[in-house]
Amino acid sequence: MPDTHPASAPSSSKLREVPPTAIIIFGASGDLTARKLIPALYNLNLDNLLPTDFYLFGFGRSSLPDSEFQQLNITHIKDFSRRLFNADKWSTVQSKTYYQTGSYETLSDFIILKEKIDALEKNIGKPIQLLFYLSTPPTVFKPTLENLGNSGLASRHLGTKLASKVIIEKPFGRDLGSAHDLNAIITHQFQENQVFRIDHYLGKETVQDLLILRFANSIFEPIWNLNYVNYVEITVAESLGVGKRGGYYDQSGALRDMIQNHIMQLLSLIAMEPPISTDPEDIRNEKVKLLKAIQPVKLAVDGGDVVRGQYEEGLIAGEKVPGYLQEADIYPNSYTETFVALKLLINNWRWNGVPFYVRSGKRMARRVSEIAIHFKYPHGSLFKEASKYDLIPNTLVIQIQPDEGSTLIINCKVPGLETRTQPIKMHFRYATTFGSETPEAYERLILDAMLHDNTLFIRSDEAETSWKLCTPILNFWQECKHHGLEKYTAGSWGPTTATELLWNDKHEWRKIDA
Ligand SMILES: NC(=O)c1ccc[n+]([C@@H]2O[C@H](COP(=O)([O-])OP(=O)(O)OC[C@H]3O[C@@H](n4cnc5c(N)ncnc54)[C@H](OP(=O)(O)O)[C@@H]3O)[C@@H](O)[C@H]2O)c1
Repeated sequence: MPDTHPASAPSSSKLREVPPTAIIIFGASGDLTARKLIPALYNLNLDNLLPTDFYLFGFGRSSLPDSEFQQLNITHIKDFSRRLFNADKWSTVQSKTYYQTGSYETLSDFIILKEKIDALEKNIGKPIQLLFYLSTPPTVFKPTLENLGNSGLASRHLGTKLASKVIIEKPFGRDLGSAHDLNAIITHQFQENQVFRIDHYLGKETVQDLLILRFANSIFEPIWNLNYVNYVEITVAESLGVGKRGGYYDQSGALRDMIQNHIMQLLSLIAMEPPISTDPEDIRNEKVKLLKAIQPVKLAVDGGDVVRGQYEEGLIAGEKVPGYLQEADIYPNSYTETFVALKLLINNWRWNGVPFYVRSGKRMARRVSEIAIHFKYPHGSLFKEASKYDLIPNTLVIQIQPDEGSTLIINCKVPGLETRTQPIKMHFRYATTFGSETPEAYERLILDAMLHDNTLFIRSDEAETSWKLCTPILNFWQECKHHGLEKYTAGSWGPTTATELLWNDKHEWRKIDA
């Protein structure tokens, strides 16, 4: 029997057709709408992925006539879209774009919105799916959700595939208690399968490729366990500081902003058991099982498994940048962490004893997100003579951003008459193989939500399980305040205690190439 595979299937987007849809953005005058949501809709439209019956509504306190909102959207597209503005193409959406000035707390404003949608459905003679996008600060999530419920907008076409859907932005709570409360508010108004908790990391090509890499290739899964893997690193580093978001960040910090969501998502995808199918629930069940198997983190100022830091003045790309406490809107005596490193242990048959080190920080040496799987040293003593054989254990690096791809580091013979070895890198780069025109995360995620596919969104128990792990750490820091908060120079890779965290286990962070 030849070992072949069937002819390639048409791309999934061609198989999936979006029903008539109205997307309603709450907080439509804001930054996320400008930089991500409108450009994502523009690009979906450019690729003919929006339905003919597509309507765009903005909602917020700002007073914007329809025409001004339409004009603003064009500016956002010109400023932030990955592809050039095409006025002809966008005109079909532009002519169906509306804005409603209203208060998130006022039910009658939601009833006006409902009446507009009733009129629209009557006019076109068919039912429309409603997709609500909560793009406001989390303080207004609660009244918005309640008014969506009380106005009847949340339960529209319930029980059919056109049932209303809601996308909720991060942060999803501040700790376990608030995430639980938010889930309770959401599920009072919406059924779980109507809810799309977004983590834009899941929309990135390389993150989606983790499932393919692990489960569509036969060479990785047999070695993806404690018998072959020595340790795993996950780094999500930013070279930027807090910028204009100081007020928000000082109340949040790196654990809430990056670890609880993005890093826990990456960890669950890289370490979970194979799901029994690609059904969203089967995948999310495995992610939750993995998160539940992570052991509580050892908390101590000295000798614990968690390091936190705050950046001081330093150099980024040769430019002097201020320390965290000198940034705008930061409390002068703030002990908010801008860097976190954690050692995590997973108590299951696959990973028992294999440390997972994760770190995230601002003002680090460079912007990079990657996962590094460090394999064990080869067995035996064939190439033991250190002076001749420059051997390293194999490492598989999955680069999530900015240079998406993967690299396998293996040992190789140096050409010549003598047998010497040297580590070499086998690179795969998305841009080289597929070109650089890959869709933005928000394009994929909005399309999936319109198609009622919640694979790449976070389920309520997933969010709460992750908070269950992070909340004791936050409580511990709340007690310690400044005690144990390390300083690091902007432009470095974080405090030295983060290096020691690995040294104590005779491991080290990968030296990330410039
Ligand atoms: N910006 C990003 O890159 C980014 C990335 C990831 C996640 N998020 C999340 O996405 C959501 C929206 O982010 P954003 O950056 O667009 O927020 P934003 O610009 O601060 O706010 C969006 C809009 O929300 C409305 N709003 C309602 N109550 C508000 C209040 N108390 N303070 C300020 N604005 C209020 C405002 O519109 P009206 O005054 O017209 O009502 C504002 O224009 C947030 O939950 C954020 O955490 C943002």
